[in-house]
Amino acid sequence: MNDRFEIAIPTLFGLEAMVSRELYRLGYDVKKTENGRVTFDGDYDAVIRANMWLRCGERVLIKVGEFKAETQNDLYEGIKSLEWERFIDKTDAFPVKGHTVRSKLNSDRSSQITIKKAVADRLCSAYNVMSLPETDVTYQIQFTIIDNTVTAMIDTTGAALHKRGYRALSNGAPLRETIAAAMVMISYWKFEYPLLDPFCGSGTIPIEAAMFKRNIAPGLNREFAFMNFPQISERDIQDVIDEARDDIHKDVCPEIFASDIDTACVELTMENAKKAGVYDFIHVSNCDARKVFIDKPYGTIITNPPYGERLSDINECKKLYKEIGRSFSKLDKWSYYILTSHEEFEKEFGRKADRRRKLYNGMLKCNLYQFYGERPPKPETGK
Ligand SMILES: C[S@@+](CC[C@H](N)C(=O)[O-])C[C@H]1O[C@@H](n2cnc3c(N)ncnc32)[C@H](O)[C@@H]1O
Repeated sequence: MNDRFEIAIPTLFGLEAMVSRELYRLGYDVKKTENGRVTFDGDYDAVIRANMWLRCGERVLIKVGEFKAETQNDLYEGIKSLEWERFIDKTDAFPVKGHTVRSKLNSDRSSQITIKKAVADRLCSAYNVMSLPETDVTYQIQFTIIDNTVTAMIDTTGAALHKRGYRALSNGAPLRETIAAAMVMISYWKFEYPLLDPFCGSGTIPIEAAMFKRNIAPGLNREFAFMNFPQISERDIQDVIDEARDDIHKDVCPEIFASDIDTACVELTMENAKKAGVYDFIHVSNCDARKVFIDKPYGTIITNPPYGERLSDINECKKLYKEIGRSFSKLDKWSYYILTSHEEFEKEFGRKADRRRKLYNGMLKCNLYQFYGERPPKPETGK
């Protein structure tokens, strides 16, 4: 467990600062923040904790090495010089995947083949064997070659971190859990006041909000690749799981409203909330966002309405944005956080945002439009 190395957390573009903030809260100092990646120093305990607790990162990767390469030979020699035997034993499997961006080595496939061969040669010579059966634990090697810099890493996560395990079912256009969590964290929503998502779809925002405020670790109900690594004992994993269970804020009962015009989405949100263990805190209803009203003076709307990606839907969307501009204004002291890829959202909505923040929902460039409400009075009790 005391072995130390660099750990890289890939993120969706726009979420780097959120991941840095999360790492800081976990007690780790961020070493480097690049576009789409945050790096820190840690050990196997940090691997378990980062996988268990990060809400906004996509995976947890052990960085084996980084070097410049412009030719296949540079790549082969660079990879072969790294200490792969520090992690991978002579019977372990080591599939390779990755991608190249703005580099002389511009073929993902050729680079993958070269890396596989270089790692195999390194392991054969380190273990003094002629062949590697690859029958034991799987260490997924992940590489990036960006601006001629090769980063060679081992994945400890398996299925990406946004797969929390509660959303086996989704609607047609679900939001990544990592973005939903980031939207909630950006909003500084205070759980003593209600939260509303009037376009809830499969319920990602309300569920992530409830999990965040109840301090439910996002990785509590899923498996990770590191669980098979012999470097990490079952006892160490169980300790982190037990600690996470103890850390749930059982006395925090947020009031969350989720609604959608589509009854199938209402059902879906209820199903997913049950799976995530937060059903008791989310009031789900079938309602048109143009008519939504909550009789509470203060609160926060966090939502992602339809974007109108297809040309035929754009006018419909513009009309919808105008109408929610009017309906939301009845909640005049509330704050709103609205994510859409529609460039002219503010014009249609009828109000200029106090702040905009660029976020990517997968590959789709969006803006989070932030409209600040009135500051609510300090709650008398609670955290
Ligand atoms: C982009 S999706 C939201 C996805 C959601 N955040 C999730 O994670 O699944 C937009 C949702 O708005 C709903 N919708 C469309 N028009 C609506 C309206 N007028 N009122 C309420 N919901 C509406 C759709 O049914 C769809 O579920």
